[in-house]
Amino acid sequence: MKLNDLVSLCQRRGFIYQGSQLYGGLAGTWDYGPLGVELKRNLQNLWWQRFVTDRDDIYGIDSAILMNSGVWRASGHTDAGFADPLVEDLVTNQRYRADQLLEELGHETAGLSVQQMGELIAKHDIKSPKGNQLSAIRQFNMMFVTHIGATAKDEDVVYLRPETAQGMFVNFKNVVDSLQPDLPFGLAQIGKAFRNEIAPRDFIFRAREFEQMEIEYFCLPQDKEELWQGWVEQMRTFLAGVGVDLSLVKEIDIPETDRAHYSQKTIDFEFEFPFGQRELCGLADRGDFDLANHQQASGKSLEYITKGDQKKVQPHCLEPTFGVDRLILAILVSSYKADQKNDRIYLDLPVDLAPFRWAVSPLLGNNPDLVARARQVYDQLKSRGEKVAWDASGNIGKRYRRQDEIGTPACLVVDHQTLEDGTVTVRDRNSLSQTRQLPQEI
Ligand code: GAP
Repeated sequence: MKLNDLVSLCQRRGFIYQGSQLYGGLAGTWDYGPLGVELKRNLQNLWWQRFVTDRDDIYGIDSAILMNSGVWRASGHTDAGFADPLVEDLVTNQRYRADQLLEELGHETAGLSVQQMGELIAKHDIKSPKGNQLSAIRQFNMMFVTHIGATAKDEDVVYLRPETAQGMFVNFKNVVDSLQPDLPFGLAQIGKAFRNEIAPRDFIFRAREFEQMEIEYFCLPQDKEELWQGWVEQMRTFLAGVGVDLSLVKEIDIPETDRAHYSQKTIDFEFEFPFGQRELCGLADRGDFDLANHQQASGKSLEYITKGDQKKVQPHCLEPTFGVDRLILAILVSSYKADQKNDRIYLDLPVDLAPFRWAVSPLLGNNPDLVARARQVYDQLKSRGEKVAWDASGNIGKRYRRQDEIGTPACLVVDHQTLEDGTVTVRDRNSLSQTRQLPQEI
């Protein structure tokens, strides 16, 4: 499958559109259409159900995107640790990520410092993709900056959050004070994050505005090792449950030189996307980096007093993080099936994720009795709170193809026999099997 096949399906069928398309687009932004938003919500609901609702030890929060700038100074995001190496084409002024340019030319950049990348560029006389001289590398901070209030002074600077995580660290004390949870416990949130990527690319894989589903799991340092293995397994199980093909996933232990500035240990779950094997989601051991830094910068204690012996401890934190958009891309890649024998494309989406659970059709769109009866079946299914598609245009074969392409697990067709015995044809998306059933019994 080529990425372009998927991008065009997403555009054509209302899953994902280019952001600001009417005005020629805005690089690194994407809009979810009517089907995409259902898929995304279903995914987020499954994540929330699995990691928050079903558990007693993880609490959901929803923190503000705009935060006091002190948060980002304490977390290290205003420093070089959250910057990408940028080079500029000296003729066109087009900007590129130095590490990506080098890698595209077959040079390994893992673990290289900015200076070492600069030396590689000079040694091999590497030019921009347009053939022009490149500038020296400079570190480009990825946070979007804006100002709060009307005056736009330096002290009014605020950042659009580059990760949802910090909203959880700064609420650690609030949640401990209001709910007195036992250690280990976690905070979870789903929300937007923003990064001024130098080179957004590969559809929704690398965007400037995207969504994350993150958990900060606080624990005693001595319990980390055992919990770590548990989280690796829970992440793997979640990926499989939402339809990610695990044969395309590799778990990579990231070497120290390539880890984020806050991480003592990281496992990336990399996925074989059509453009190569790339990070899909990850698990990081953030140690006490964040709580200790916020404690120092805010002057407020972020220690935890243990329940039994009333000892003050600085909890450590394990962070399972999922990018919503990358996960959607991995799910779409995993579920995209070209069934040449039957001349069709279908999305093999898990039932809980598909934008529509059922599609209902009258066999003949111009037969009022069949249309009326099909409407009854449609209303009956809708009244159960399920997402149901109504599809009465074109012939039945075309309707099946349309529903296959958007991953609807089953089509219900009302025909002349329905008027006699109430049964409908239930046509299965994957097996193409057709059975007769009463709608109230499915
Ligand atoms: N709080 C930790 C953190 O933000 P990260 O690896 O930088 O770690 C977490 O990001 C996840 O967010 C990634 O695994 C990826 O799924 C997603 N992500 C990061 N940058 C992204 C981007 N530019 N576009 C889309 N998703 C992105």
